[in-house]
Amino acid sequence: MSIKKISKIQPESFEFYKENLQVANNEIKKYPKDRKASAVLALLYLVQRQNDNWIPLAAIKYVARLLDIPYIQVYEVSTFYSMFNLSPVGKYFVQVCTTTPCMIRGANKIVGVCKKYITKNQNELSENKLCSWVEVECLGACVNAPVMQINQDYFEDLDENKTEEIIQKLLEDKLPTPGSVKNRKNTAPEKGKTTLLQVKNA
Ligand code: FES
Repeated sequence: MSIKKISKIQPESFEFYKENLQVANNEIKKYPKDRKASAVLALLYLVQRQNDNWIPLAAIKYVARLLDIPYIQVYEVSTFYSMFNLSPVGKYFVQVCTTTPCMIRGANKIVGVCKKYITKNQNELSENKLCSWVEVECLGACVNAPVMQINQDYFEDLDENKTEEIIQKLLEDKLPTPGSVKNRKNTAPEKGKTTLLQVKNA
């Protein structure tokens, strides 16, 4: 597991955009008035989506104020969960699964492509600051291994060439189409159904 890096360069302030503030208030309303803290994960997730995939310290203070809880309580949550980034990861954050099923199916080659095109080391921004990559544990899509996650989307059944195409698009500030690069539907067999043939929509 990589150590969580806290950015030395921090914006002085953070506020939700109007529409995100509305979403945040709706999240807060889901809980009793004296239990507003329960919305902390939802609000941190929203911060990250608004702020190119990372949470500045000013946003942690802002969320604490919205929830009427101490700053340290939000800080604890944001440092605990690995899905929260506390330093810039770029507009496109690439997470490559390197757990056993993905490793057996070629995750090393996917890592190699990231090293070649994004940066030699994980947790560093690409030269144009658009992208970074990191190795992660199982993303829960082993049946479509090898897999990588870019922001909220999964890219599955990868090989070296397809990964190169995807990464190059990211570096040109274009988001490629997510899903299986072999165009399989979800986790269906590559050559079509083999069981439950008589059941419609199975
Ligand atoms: S091992 Fe890679 S998604 Fe599970």
